[in-house]
Amino acid sequence: MRILLYLGKGGVGKTTIAAATALRSAELGYRTLVVSTDIAHSLADSLDTPLRGQAIQVAPNLFAQEINVLDEVREHWGKLQGYMGSMLRRQGMDRAIAEEMAIIPGMEEIVSLLNIHRAASTGDYDRVVVDAAPTGETMRLLTMPESFQWYVDRFYNWGDAAIRLTGGLLRRMMPSKDPLAGLPKLVDDVKALQRVLSNPQITSYRIVLNPEKMVVKEGARAVTYLSLFGYPVDAAVVNRILPGVVVDSAGIGQVIEPSSDPYMRRLQEIQAHYLGEIERDFYPLPILRSHWAGEEMVGLPQLRGLAASIFGDTDPGRIFFVGQPQEIVEEGDDFVLVLPLPNVELNKVKLTKRGDELFVTIGNFKRELLLPAVLAQRDAGGAVFADGRLRIRFPMKEREA
Ligand SMILES: Nc1ncnc2c1ncn2[C@@H]1O[C@H](COP(=O)(O)OP(=O)(O)O)[C@@H](O)[C@H]1O
Ligand SMILES: [Mg+2]
Repeated sequence: MRILLYLGKGGVGKTTIAAATALRSAELGYRTLVVSTDIAHSLADSLDTPLRGQAIQVAPNLFAQEINVLDEVREHWGKLQGYMGSMLRRQGMDRAIAEEMAIIPGMEEIVSLLNIHRAASTGDYDRVVVDAAPTGETMRLLTMPESFQWYVDRFYNWGDAAIRLTGGLLRRMMPSKDPLAGLPKLVDDVKALQRVLSNPQITSYRIVLNPEKMVVKEGARAVTYLSLFGYPVDAAVVNRILPGVVVDSAGIGQVIEPSSDPYMRRLQEIQAHYLGEIERDFYPLPILRSHWAGEEMVGLPQLRGLAASIFGDTDPGRIFFVGQPQEIVEEGDDFVLVLPLPNVELNKVKLTKRGDELFVTIGNFKRELLLPAVLAQRDAGGAVFADGRLRIRFPMKEREA
């Protein structure tokens, strides 16, 4: 069983690449489901066939589904929300506020994750490819199991206290069938889900990029946070590379066939620049690439072509990389960021920090990093490069001591 999850900024090609991956996987003989959790669905357009909330077969071995998250929340959680709302109102809370508070934050995210989990654990599929919402929302989705647990714990404690305070009166007022009865099961499901989503044998996260500044930054941030939460990233896919732009064997972007149009040529140069930057900033992740097609990427033949250009003969379901592209370790009161780096010459390491951005310079090697909040609020103390790893120390601040 494999779950492949594509993340990236809106419009970079997540839906298209998820669909292409699923098609190729199906054609290799794996029963594959491609499922969209983005509220702004476009999977149906990409596959050029109508889709529903339930999985339907769209080609041999290929199944697709567009989950309607809002409907599901209303259907399964409407009752619980109504109950929580009335409980809060009995506490003397204003109706509008009570109803607002009864909405469990992150319910939508939990519902789409549970759907993926359900599809993955039915045994009906060998593979589930997830076409996710843009990075920010998906990151929220992936960190949700933890915050959800927190919320449920709080709610239980609060419920217990309310019952104690009202001397059992509240319990007598409860409907006979306790709508909270389902919660422990849900908490267990969410925990099981988190185990699956952080198991590198099962799940792989892939960052979809275009060779341009904002997209690359958002992608780097996603890698930072996925690593922080222990979610396995196994590749980056750079999509929409213009014709004539390549990366040479040294990892430098090159314009090998400059366009005669000055406007296009400028775009080619920008792309070449970012292609090189991606090689360094996403190291040691394997980088897969696909060109900007001269036609609309809609329908199975187009998707088949795109899959061939990204994966060649390789099975897209394989695990492309094992390990964490970066790691934060605690050493006493300090945090140390451990970063594998390509073979750079031993040289003095220069660090420049600007907000949550850290620029690492070693000789003529330059790499830009996006720090998670825990590190961004400290100063970078110093760095040592040894055994292919850069260890950057972030000492505790005086006032934290
Ligand atoms: N390699 C490509 N060549 C040409 N068009 C592409 C390519 N990749 C994606 N597209 C098109 O770009 C648009 C956005 O892609 P989409 O997969 O919907 O992005 P996302 O899901 O990341 O928002 C779609 O119209 C899609 O057909
Ligand atoms: Mg999409």
